[in-house]
Amino acid sequence: MSKIEKPRGTRDFLPDEMEKRRAIERVMRKTAESYGYREINTPTFEHLNLFTIKSGEEIVQEIYAFKDKGGRDLALRPELTAPVMRMFVNECSVMPRPLRFYYFSNCFRYENPQKGRYREFWQFGVELIGSDSHLADLEVIVLAYNIMKNLNLDFTLNIGHVGLLRKLLEDVEEARYRKITRMIDKNDIEGLERYLSSEGLEEYLELVRDLIGLKGGMEVIDSAKEIIPDFDFSHLENLCKGLEKLGIEYNLDFSIVRGLDYYTGVVFEAFAKKGLGAQNQICGGGSYRLTHLFGGADVPSTGFALGFDRIAEICEIDAETPELILVAHTPGMELEALEICEKLRKSGRIVLSDVMERNLKKQLSFANTIAAKYAVIVAENEFKEGKVILRDLEEGKQILLDVNGLQEYFR
Ligand code: HAM
Repeated sequence: MSKIEKPRGTRDFLPDEMEKRRAIERVMRKTAESYGYREINTPTFEHLNLFTIKSGEEIVQEIYAFKDKGGRDLALRPELTAPVMRMFVNECSVMPRPLRFYYFSNCFRYENPQKGRYREFWQFGVELIGSDSHLADLEVIVLAYNIMKNLNLDFTLNIGHVGLLRKLLEDVEEARYRKITRMIDKNDIEGLERYLSSEGLEEYLELVRDLIGLKGGMEVIDSAKEIIPDFDFSHLENLCKGLEKLGIEYNLDFSIVRGLDYYTGVVFEAFAKKGLGAQNQICGGGSYRLTHLFGGADVPSTGFALGFDRIAEICEIDAETPELILVAHTPGMELEALEICEKLRKSGRIVLSDVMERNLKKQLSFANTIAAKYAVIVAENEFKEGKVILRDLEEGKQILLDVNGLQEYFR
């Protein structure tokens, strides 16, 4: 029989990797919770139209869509923003606002697998629901920034505003507008030039090129004002003032359009400076409106998602390696050994016992293999005297201890 491989674009995680991932996850949770965000969870699959309603049928190519046995069109979630907004409309629309939610969940996209691009991947994200103030955008950007800083990541943070391109191209119909933004998203400037000429939209070429070429600090807003004089820049200006006041390092970049179609205002992306190659975007977010499409009132929201797998790839974090205790025994003493194991676990220790029916020598050799710190040896003769042997495997020393004193020793 040949081995069964895992599906393309999916990954297995061994314990060392899981411990590192949990350590990263703890930092993310702790930081988000310090801003008052609370965890939510939504189903792994949703009705397909939750994802096509805004993005159109084309998106079906990029997601795991299927019919269930009842003939219903379903999809594995490619992201969490639409599910969270569906949940909000169904269950939270009367709750006091703003609502601050975070999630840590797996997502599925039918991608061409490569390093950093998977078909199942994890996102840690937040959604701040109910405000269209620059203060809401400021909060989520600062939160994303601080999570990445708390993980000691080396990254750049780019901030844009999709309203600028929308305003500039307000007379261009939706389908063409989307094509244009797709090309900008892929940085396909030649394709963009060709497309604008072929559609008789040459008049926009210069302006679009100038706008998406603007990159830098707050000063580039003045240049943007020259390109789109009738756009209200106050939201963006106030956001930038806030970012400067809080010492956040960022660049304005009006070429950010984001791959997802629901954004309406400020958008942002973070890129790792090294270690990830082409797939180095580690965070994406912005403000958006979706609830009115899901049967609710029109409620403004803002949020982001961090690409957990990419971050885990580059993050250097010390996952605590807990001390292991192995309780070994001489023949016939396995139940006495098990009782001792249970007592030590009650004191919060990690305790391993023999399940292989090995002799004492092999049990101790296994303790070394797994780098246990201590071996407790339950030997018949000593046990009769109420004692066990405690061996410090790192120091290579051992002592005789009262069975009753063992729990106290490890407290
Ligand atoms: P997104 O930019 O599509 O945004 O995804 C967020 C992050 O997930 C990306 O920056 C990237 O790091 C990671 N990511 C995306 N696709 C993959 C993949 N195939 N393999 C590994 N990592 C991947 C969203 O999903 C929005 N829902 C974010 C948001 C929340 N906007 C507002 N609220």
